[in-house]
Amino acid sequence: MAFTKDTMMMGALLLLALVCAAYAGKAAPASKGSDSAAADGGAACPGGTCDITKLGASGNGKTDSTKAVQSAWASACGGTGKQKILIPKGDYLVGPLNFTGPCKGDVTIQVDGNLLASTDLSQYKANWIEILRVDNLVITGKGKLDGQGPAVWSKNSCAKKYDCKILPNSLVLDYVNNGEVSGITLLNSKFFHMNVFQCKDVVIKDVTVTAPGDSPNTDGIHMGDSSGISIINTVIGVGDDCISIGPGSTKVNITGVTCGPGHGISIGSLGRYKDEKDVTDITVKDCTLKKSSNGLRIKAYEDANSVLTASKIHYENIKMEDAGNPIIIDMKYCPNKICTSNGASKVTVKDVSFKNITGTSSTPEAVSLLCSDKIPCSGVTMDNVKVEYSGTNNKTMAVCNNAKGTATGCLKELACL
Ligand SMILES: *[C@@H]1O[C@H](CO)[C@@H](O)[C@H](O)[C@H]1NC(C)=O
Ligand SMILES: *[C@@H]1O[C@H](CO)[C@@H](O)[C@H](O)[C@H]1NC(C)=O
Ligand SMILES: *[C@@H]1O[C@H](CO)[C@@H](O)[C@H](O)[C@H]1NC(C)=O
Ligand SMILES: *[C@@H]1O[C@H](CO)[C@@H](O)[C@H](O)[C@H]1NC(C)=O
Repeated sequence: MAFTKDTMMMGALLLLALVCAAYAGKAAPASKGSDSAAADGGAACPGGTCDITKLGASGNGKTDSTKAVQSAWASACGGTGKQKILIPKGDYLVGPLNFTGPCKGDVTIQVDGNLLASTDLSQYKANWIEILRVDNLVITGKGKLDGQGPAVWSKNSCAKKYDCKILPNSLVLDYVNNGEVSGITLLNSKFFHMNVFQCKDVVIKDVTVTAPGDSPNTDGIHMGDSSGISIINTVIGVGDDCISIGPGSTKVNITGVTCGPGHGISIGSLGRYKDEKDVTDITVKDCTLKKSSNGLRIKAYEDANSVLTASKIHYENIKMEDAGNPIIIDMKYCPNKICTSNGASKVTVKDVSFKNITGTSSTPEAVSLLCSDKIPCSGVTMDNVKVEYSGTNNKTMAVCNNAKGTATGCLKELACL
């Protein structure tokens, strides 16, 4: 749920504030980093490749290999030029991994085998694999990052409690510039599969993200305060949003993504906290939504604290296969009924285009533009939007409130602008 997503981002900010304070207290963070790398991991790995099995990891799926992987990071991050961490075929059980930079060279993590997250929650401070302040990072291979969520999902109380304990996210990138995550599978995370925060120019491609449709808060990829994020040719089936684009996201390019099961491709939730930044320049193209509970969604809290704008959002060539709410702008979003006032959203939505959106909807409302009367949505264009209701007891329809724009070449039932 976006509710917990927002709570979690506040947690991430607090943690980062602590980390930053720790950094500020050190005279020369870069050289300190490499000193400790040498102390933890010994000399740089032979030929620049740190094979975790040569550092004591065991691929039997049972022996804790955290130390070996952590020392591979220390060596690779402390080495100059091109450095590689090799995770060979096999199953490696590991607890929380702290991959903190800055690194001296460029690190590639070659994931040929599978990392299995420990199910002992007492080991975790926050996340499972956390990558902080690393430039030119590559994570690639055909292996899996298995969060082993089924063992702990029952401990998630976020649907019931505001102050719930957040379970570990699987792969977290904080302050990463110029990164690539490709080929790998993210499986059954305890909480989010991937969280991208304060990053710049990161490409996620040919990735598979998989968890059951009823698993709690297992969002596929969440991003916030980041720019230049691309998600390409990726298949996501999870228990919450496939992709969520939070406040402060700009220049985002989502192409060739299949989503379902899941809650769709969402922008938001927006407006809940103070000082949230604008969302702009978002392109979602050539994607398929398969039996997801929502399709293309923009959501903002009706009692938003922040004044912000979501603009220049472009959706094109999207196929709906029995998706619920295929097109939905919801400016009165309020999960778990936590809002105090109504209709007073301070979030502006403008310049949103939907072009060539086709297929079928599992809900009669194929288009819902639910904007607020105080700040109507403007510059909404629908061009060739043709989505039919897949049920037999009703017909496809649009519900549009306070939305301004134009519709051309759409099913006449959907041309509400
Ligand atoms: C991660 O490692 C860095 C550098 O070695 C350290 O400063 C930081 O406290 C560690 N973070 C956690 C959460 O253990
Ligand atoms: C998005 O990514 C696709 C695939 O790499 C590329 O062809 C396209 O030009 C990109 N679009 C934008 C707006 O960056
Ligand atoms: C519309 O989108 C579909 C994919 O959903 C694509 O196959 C088709 O070529 C697109 N049509 C046009 C005119 O671009
Ligand atoms: C059709 O769906 C709309 C919107 O969900 C609902 O309000 C209406 O009652 C439905 N009509 C029938 C005949 O079920």
